[in-house]
Amino acid sequence: MAIRDIVKDGEPILRKKCREVDVFDAKLAKLLDDMKDTLDKADGVGLAAPQVGILKRVVIVEFEDFFLEMVNPVIIEQSGSQIGQEACLSVPNRSCDVERPNRLVVNYQTRKGNKKQIVVEDFIARIFCHEIDHLDGILYYDKEYKK
Ligand code: CO
Repeated sequence: MAIRDIVKDGEPILRKKCREVDVFDAKLAKLLDDMKDTLDKADGVGLAAPQVGILKRVVIVEFEDFFLEMVNPVIIEQSGSQIGQEACLSVPNRSCDVERPNRLVVNYQTRKGNKKQIVVEDFIARIFCHEIDHLDGILYYDKEYKK
């Protein structure tokens, strides 16, 4: 495991669309392990692969005792709404309010390629939205909520 450099806003890679993962190999496992190390070091709540320079549909989410790795995550249902502040490890010294759904149903694959589904709510749902947006080159402030 190793800590990778976090790509900062302004680098074109953060604005690109990531490819789906179709090979579930040791390289993917290493990417996920390194992302966990990198997130822990940075003390964040989520990280997407493009933030470490890899254009693959891979994210991790870690908040309190919740931790999940998702490969090829897809939001298949969403409901409700919440407005709250977001920030991003790739966008230092900045934050703003963003409106997000309050509840999501998400399909994803594990690092071994197994298909799973999870329902998340509240702040975890917010993190999921933020990280999954990264996979399509969207940064949270693109969606700034203005009263
Ligand atoms: Co971010």
